[in-house]
Amino acid sequence: MPFDTMSDPADVSTLVILGGSGDLARRMLLPSLYHLDADGLLSPALKIIGVARAEGDGASYVKDVKAAIESREELDAAAWKRFAERLDYCAADVTKPEGAACLAGKVGEGVRIIFFALSPSLYSAACAGLKAGGVIDDKTRLVLEKPIGRDLETSKAINAAVAAVADEANVFRIDHYLGKETVQNLLALRFANTLFEPLWNATAIDHVQITIAETEKVGDRWAYYDEYGALRDMLQNHLLQLLCLVAMEPPAKLDPDSTRDEKVKVLRSLKPATRASVIHDTVRGQYGAGVVEGQQAASYETEVGRPSDTETFVALRVEVDNWRWAGVPFFLRTGKRMPERLTQIVIQFKPLPHSIFGTAASEDLESNRLIIDLQPLEDISLVMMMKRPGLGDTRLQPLPLSLSLAKTLGDDGGRRRIAYERLLLDVLRGDRTLFVRRDEVEQAWTFVDGVASAWAEAGMKPRPYPAGNWGPSGAFALIERGGRTWND
Ligand code: NDP
Ligand code: BG6
Repeated sequence: MPFDTMSDPADVSTLVILGGSGDLARRMLLPSLYHLDADGLLSPALKIIGVARAEGDGASYVKDVKAAIESREELDAAAWKRFAERLDYCAADVTKPEGAACLAGKVGEGVRIIFFALSPSLYSAACAGLKAGGVIDDKTRLVLEKPIGRDLETSKAINAAVAAVADEANVFRIDHYLGKETVQNLLALRFANTLFEPLWNATAIDHVQITIAETEKVGDRWAYYDEYGALRDMLQNHLLQLLCLVAMEPPAKLDPDSTRDEKVKVLRSLKPATRASVIHDTVRGQYGAGVVEGQQAASYETEVGRPSDTETFVALRVEVDNWRWAGVPFFLRTGKRMPERLTQIVIQFKPLPHSIFGTAASEDLESNRLIIDLQPLEDISLVMMMKRPGLGDTRLQPLPLSLSLAKTLGDDGGRRRIAYERLLLDVLRGDRTLFVRRDEVEQAWTFVDGVASAWAEAGMKPRPYPAGNWGPSGAFALIERGGRTWND
């Protein structure tokens, strides 16, 4: 997005973090803001105010934030001093008039940003209270964390409460995957090169796989997670956003609405789930006890302390029912307590129509694959067939043509930015391109609600898998039925 179409970050006087002492604020938002400040990207006048109910004041908040950032990295004394001077705190319940009263005395004139790092169940009450107390005005930007609601109905209620106090142009719905460098590179790969676009369709592509695997347990977040599960926590947002970026048509421009128009068309094209299709095309799993990264790991139910029907793993075969993708399956999966942390998109091209090589070499043949690694590595590689060196009979082997950013651009060892740094900077600039529009969120919920209600109709409970495995055996059968395999 060119700078001249955006607003000046200096117009922003105050950034309020509702839930300023929570996990997201401590691990992601405050460290990201500190880095932006250290890089000279925050306006000198910007104030940052944390809000939470716990007792405290500006001085105690500075101490807490320092401890939170120091637990991740060493602080630069000068950068920290500057950052600390921006910080302030309101000890208040944001759903009650006291929240607005405390903030009204602290926020500046100019553009205000209110970041909702709270449970989504508080969003509506917080919006109404802050508007009534004069903290939200016509210029205020509201930043909403996912998940927005638990289903279409609750999502619509939150979006309506937000729309009652702010114009859609001032609403920034975060999906932090869109702030990841390689996700943005996917747009560059597709639309800044002529090479792939002619092949980016059902004629050349056999299938697409998108995996978000985590080794982490649910742990302390179980109270939230047990109500949502992998379908609502990860698939509704991160996985579907990645799917949209792979499947969408080229937007007319890289501006907020052109890109989001194309993403919403993909979501509308998803073939809805039915009672019959979920039995065949989806897998729900829940981790039992096992071993992860060499350590004994307890079961999900042990963490929760009671039996639970919540899935910690989900795999789906979905179809994008449109001209470009007719007949191309998209395999999506995500899970906690997997053997490794891996976020990867694989575009598997069709096999050769005819082999000119001998029998042995023909057996070596594999279809070309474009592998987009998001984490832990950031890499894009195209797997090509090459001849094995030597004088004997021709044999073939797959070799990756790698576009590793770290290696190619020589920034090995450099600090990897937190995805929120990019997104917070975009909110300060007023650029909504990497944020999710209301109709996108609601369309994603429409698809997810269809899966959830088909699961309920079919009586599909999560199947167990031992922690440290790639989900229940059904996840392998899901892809192998069509003669394909996961790219593990
Ligand atoms: P936490 O439970 O860790 O933090 C919640 C925060 O809200 C605390 O600071 C809490 O402080 C405050 N709070 C709760 N009720 C009120 C209230 N009535 N008025 C004012 N403050 C209140 O949650 P997370 O930080 O994990 O999550 C926050 C949001 O971010 C959720 O929407 C979550 O889904 C989303 N999210 C979180 C991620 C993460 O990695 N943690 C990742 C992606 C999204 P106190 O109790 O003192 O009031
Ligand atoms: C969050 C989910 O949105 O994304 C978490 O709520 C998950 O359950 C996290 O762990 C994963 O994010 P990342 O950036 O670590 O892959």
